[in-house]
Amino acid sequence: MSSIESLHAVSHQEQARRHLWMHFSRMGGYDAEHEIPVIVRGEGCHVWDEHGRRYFDGLSALFCVNIGHGRVDVAQAGADQAKELGFFTNWSYAHPPAIELATRIADLAPGDVNRVFFTSGGSEAVESAIKLARHFHKLTGHPNKTKIIAREVAYHGTSLGALTATGITALRQPYEPFTPGGCHVPNTNLYRLKPGYGAETLAEAVRERIEFEGPETVAAVIMEPVQNAGGCFTPPDGYFQRVREICDSYDVLLISDEVICSWGRLGEWFGAQRYGYQPDIITTAKGITSAYAPMGAMLVSDRLAEPFLEGHASFTHGFTFAGHPMACAVAQANIDVMEHEGVLDNVREHEQAFRDMLESLRDIPIVGDVRGAGYFHAIELVKDRDTKASFDADESEWLLRGFLSGELYRRGLICRADDRGDPVIQLSPPLIAGPAEFEEIESILRPTLEDAWAQVRRRGGPPSAA
Ligand SMILES: Cc1ncc(COP(=O)(O)O)c(C=O)c1O
Repeated sequence: MSSIESLHAVSHQEQARRHLWMHFSRMGGYDAEHEIPVIVRGEGCHVWDEHGRRYFDGLSALFCVNIGHGRVDVAQAGADQAKELGFFTNWSYAHPPAIELATRIADLAPGDVNRVFFTSGGSEAVESAIKLARHFHKLTGHPNKTKIIAREVAYHGTSLGALTATGITALRQPYEPFTPGGCHVPNTNLYRLKPGYGAETLAEAVRERIEFEGPETVAAVIMEPVQNAGGCFTPPDGYFQRVREICDSYDVLLISDEVICSWGRLGEWFGAQRYGYQPDIITTAKGITSAYAPMGAMLVSDRLAEPFLEGHASFTHGFTFAGHPMACAVAQANIDVMEHEGVLDNVREHEQAFRDMLESLRDIPIVGDVRGAGYFHAIELVKDRDTKASFDADESEWLLRGFLSGELYRRGLICRADDRGDPVIQLSPPLIAGPAEFEEIESILRPTLEDAWAQVRRRGGPPSAA
């Protein structure tokens, strides 16, 4: 590195420490010995930091860059649109990019989900869905239907309304009180089923909760097809069909939060299509543009949109930048890439190889469970595989933040080491990855997990462990 480049790099570190408020970050943890990772370039499944070091992006930049990095053609579509119309709003006006994208999305979405309300991201989409559910019930004569049922440990965003649904205590407590009405049921953690529930009866928790709250007070149930927080919990067979039945019988709306699980992440356009259920609302973001422009959307069924299409009715809700023409053009180019380059087929063809690679790590005693679907998987880490004993808060702090996060990154793999539930490593590679990329992931993950296990043993892990 030339001295000018090195000066530039130093100054980015200093400027970031001084001025940039990083999200969900312990900013006090960065000092001369613990640099802020400054990512400067991306191509395909890889990114490079300011020192020129290459990393495998095993998280698709937070579940976003589904078609991979460096697609100048997709970004160019935004620039081309700007030459025609750089910006106009969707508040009382329409423009061709929003109209055409909404039409295309309606065509890809399941069943009668035909109406698209754009947002600038995922939390705004969830916020919109919660408001729409309440407003719909008011317009149709059920003004007391206001509560939202979500699942424990689920993440549905950070705005105050979305936090009502988010079921992660540590993220909720600093901001309470919220809009009332958020309540939670067990998630589909099949590795650690709650006492009293079997895989086939998990959906009944939703029915019990609706009964407990009073059906006349419940507006909607919100769930991800595969729950991210806690580590990629997949639904047991028939789960969503039963939840749908329950929702129908109590006049409760079903919101499928697909901020992560749409746009090919599970090998389908939408996660609901993979599991064969029909939502009333789908919330999406991230992969809709592969994050080449910020965008989200709430997709709504004809039945729900109907009361808003009559007389003076109006959904009195909106965001200035939602449906930004440049973001719409980028989304179209992103979907073109997915269609023309067989991105969803790639996931379907190789998801078993991805799974097999992760399953092959089960010989390392710290690997307790491997779960997920498509290109969205987690490994749960345990202290003792026989008893499924997990790490306590201090051990987890040491294991995830003191060792694994830093070590995986140092060795060239970006993934998520998370303990919002039990400790997990999450992998969600770009959807263009295949067997060669899985080998690359394994070449870093295996030795790092082996070293983590060696450290657990050194620190007094179970004597029975191999
Ligand atoms: C399921 C789900 N819902 C909502 C959100 C919030 O999206 P955003 O960060 O774009 O506001 C996320 C973000 O990861 C998510 O995973």
